[in-house]
Amino acid sequence: MARKLLLDKINIEHIRLYDVYRQRGGYTAVEKALKSMSPDQVTEEVKRSGLRGRGGAGFPTGMKWGFLAKPEGVPRYLVCNADESEPGTFKDRYLMEFIPHLLIEGLIVSSYAIGSNRTYIYIRGEFAWIIDILEQAIAEAKNNGWLGKNILGSGFDCEVYVHRGAGAYICGEETALIESLEGKRGYPRIKPPFPAVKGLWDCPTVVNNVETLAAIVPIINNGGEEYAKIGIGKSTGTKLVSACGNIKKPGVYEIEMNISVEEFIYNDEYCGGIANGRRLKACVPGGSSVPILPANLLLKTAKGETRMMTYESLSDGGFQTGSMMGSGGFIVLDEDQCVVRNTLTFARFYRHESCGQCSPCREGTGWMERILHNIEYGKGKMSDIDLLWDIQSKIEGNTICPLGDAAAWPVAAAIRHFRDEFEWHVTNPDDALRRNYGLGNYAEPLQVMHSA
Ligand SMILES: Cc1cc2nc3c(=O)[nH]c(=O)nc-3n(C[C@H](O)[C@H](O)[C@H](O)COP(=O)(O)O)c2cc1C
Ligand code: SF4
Repeated sequence: MARKLLLDKINIEHIRLYDVYRQRGGYTAVEKALKSMSPDQVTEEVKRSGLRGRGGAGFPTGMKWGFLAKPEGVPRYLVCNADESEPGTFKDRYLMEFIPHLLIEGLIVSSYAIGSNRTYIYIRGEFAWIIDILEQAIAEAKNNGWLGKNILGSGFDCEVYVHRGAGAYICGEETALIESLEGKRGYPRIKPPFPAVKGLWDCPTVVNNVETLAAIVPIINNGGEEYAKIGIGKSTGTKLVSACGNIKKPGVYEIEMNISVEEFIYNDEYCGGIANGRRLKACVPGGSSVPILPANLLLKTAKGETRMMTYESLSDGGFQTGSMMGSGGFIVLDEDQCVVRNTLTFARFYRHESCGQCSPCREGTGWMERILHNIEYGKGKMSDIDLLWDIQSKIEGNTICPLGDAAAWPVAAAIRHFRDEFEWHVTNPDDALRRNYGLGNYAEPLQVMHSA
């Protein structure tokens, strides 16, 4: 059995409640940090652990904290990114719903390290029931002296507030999130300046993912070095992966970052294999934003090495033959799934979620959706495939925030690896419609045009 650092207590009855969490060793990381470590020592421990941000980009957490500007007399803020709207990703909600005190504990230790006396959890508005759970956990923590003034006599004050988003995916992007937290429309900011210098209310700010902050607890309890012993290379520790699609056992799994993709898919400890006796066709291994990989490149890299569940191995080969760990949303497609249809679904999502600030993203996402729609519904031309390729290539790298890239990459990878399937749709539209929608069941949905 794999070691668990985040979900080790998840099956304990009533672990959601403070008393149970505390009896089972909860809040010892706060005690250790506030009683025996300086804020810089906490940051050093996190650097030693090699922890990388679990929100998608994989940036080293300790280094990020180290970049924080510390001008005299200016408040600093820690913001927990609990927006989790990436299709295929549902790990943070699991942590918050079932073991909320782990997040609160991680938040307190991290706030201490950064010097944040007012810390925010920016949560996706649809998680209404989780907001109640978090509010209760915060109240319990406060009633028991873990939040408020002069925590454990350390002189450190900290309050945690939950702020509810209004359901926009773009508000997961850290600068859009900050704008939204300030009460404005969630438009990403042009960087630099980065939040570490000018973030919330123009003050130095760290934005970290829920899982990242939860991982601070075992790092402080056991030491950064122990944490770094798990995993391979620069992929240290454990990682939550939300697995879905055509697998036998969809769910949230905590993996040590030293297992192969094959083990993750086929082992009963994890996904348990492909459902209904079908064969593996492809996988989007890190949430809808990352490139899709066909089965052969998913299980082995282009060099013929075993593909591992690590940041480095999943991205080995770059975007030509690799993908990304991303946010850990592992979407599996079996042989009966249609890549064109899947790509259209993602494209529709990105068109809908584009904030509209930059033309390549605003116009390009809508254009890609319309072309994909035509190909999927039997009205595509062969030249559409090259046009699609051209459009995605002009979005990538030309926008204010990475949502543009996130919209372009899935389209590029689908054409790169499954061009024959696009061509088949164009040359055999009736067969493609029959395959995807069944004989006589086909009704083309109304296409929603881009309204920006
Ligand atoms: C469009 C978009 C949506 C994002 N959504 C999330 C999200 O829901 N949760 C998250 O933690 N990071 C999200 N990110 C990444 C954040 O901008 C940021 O990198 C992350 O919160 C940093 O935390 P980490 O260093 O702990 O990973 C998103 C990025 C983009 C471009
Ligand atoms: S890339 Fe898209 S989502 Fe990001 S700022 Fe530009 S228009 Fe908005």
